[in-house]
Amino acid sequence: MKQPKRITVIGAGFMGCVIATIYAKHGYTVVLHDAIPAALTSFSERALPIAHGVATPTDSAQSIVGRVKLVADLNQALAGAELVHEVVQEDLPLKQALFAQLDRLCAPDVVLATNTSSFLISHLCRDVVHRERVIGIHYITPAHIVPVVEVIIATFTPPELVTWARDFIAAIDHVAVVCREKPGFLVNRMQLTMLAEIHRIVDEGLASAEDVDAAIRLSLGPRWALWGALGCEDLVVNKKTVVATMEYLREQTGQDHYRPTKALLGMVEQGRLGSIAGAGWHRWEAPYAEIVMDRDQQLADILAWLSEREGPSLDARPEPL
Ligand SMILES: NC(=O)c1ccc[n+]([C@@H]2O[C@H](COP(=O)([O-])OP(=O)(O)OC[C@H]3O[C@@H](n4cnc5c(N)ncnc54)[C@H](O)[C@@H]3O)[C@@H](O)[C@H]2O)c1
Repeated sequence: MKQPKRITVIGAGFMGCVIATIYAKHGYTVVLHDAIPAALTSFSERALPIAHGVATPTDSAQSIVGRVKLVADLNQALAGAELVHEVVQEDLPLKQALFAQLDRLCAPDVVLATNTSSFLISHLCRDVVHRERVIGIHYITPAHIVPVVEVIIATFTPPELVTWARDFIAAIDHVAVVCREKPGFLVNRMQLTMLAEIHRIVDEGLASAEDVDAAIRLSLGPRWALWGALGCEDLVVNKKTVVATMEYLREQTGQDHYRPTKALLGMVEQGRLGSIAGAGWHRWEAPYAEIVMDRDQQLADILAWLSEREGPSLDARPEPL
């Protein structure tokens, strides 16, 4: 599949502005369309602060924003597009009708992408004939700064389209993570699961909002930023301990959610206990002592950076309400 040169973004709202700016910055011919004329006339003003974040000495914010062509007529906006990125508000009937219309108006080799944060691709494609060219390309705010972009796929998504999406996202200097369509996709499912639990922790009076945030900023946050959740698990705890802790939590709370997964139990069975055993979720080739020293140095570096940023005390907290 050919990579696109010309992209049409449908919807010039909060996200459409950012997405059009990212594409213009990376040299694509970008057409931005919106059903409301005011959304197009106010585009430059809204996009400039975003473009400042990606401008370089040889490519100014004004020049990036100026390259986005604003087109009020849908047929004209779609002419010659090789990728159409739908970025209208999160309204299922609206998106379903729009996808049916785009499917009729665009040749079958035009890729139709959606920035939906929640709707399943198969639901959006209810009235789409060529649904094999529809894919989720879901940015995370602030999209011009956050590297990860979710690629959401349905059972009918061909592997060539997934490869195409990965290459496209690499070409705009972002990082693709591929996720099968399920409510919450990847980032929101992880984020909302944790947030729901955190809200309850505060509600139950288990810890204050300030202590919750201190615990994230000074423990989970830096470790996960460095190694991810599973890499961190490999580096800081033995899988046998993870299983024992999960089982105790399940017994105490009665929540089946804590039941150790097959994959986790399988790792214990195979002796893949984490970095201490040379393998866990990942393979760890270096001698364990080296792994530990490297781990600690990385964590000390990120905490030193945080400390430098925040002044003498790492424990800087907002005033409680
Ligand atoms: N806001 C975020 O932080 C965020 C983050 C990730 C994903 N998203 C997703 O991005 C999408 C857009 O969200 P947003 O916050 O930019 O919405 P928004 O309300 O700011 O903008 C939507 C724009 O779409 C236009 N529009 C509506 N119907 C149209 C049509 N048929 N043809 C052309 N234009 C039409 C509207 O006039 C409006 O300007 C949603 O699916 C949302 O879930 C949003």
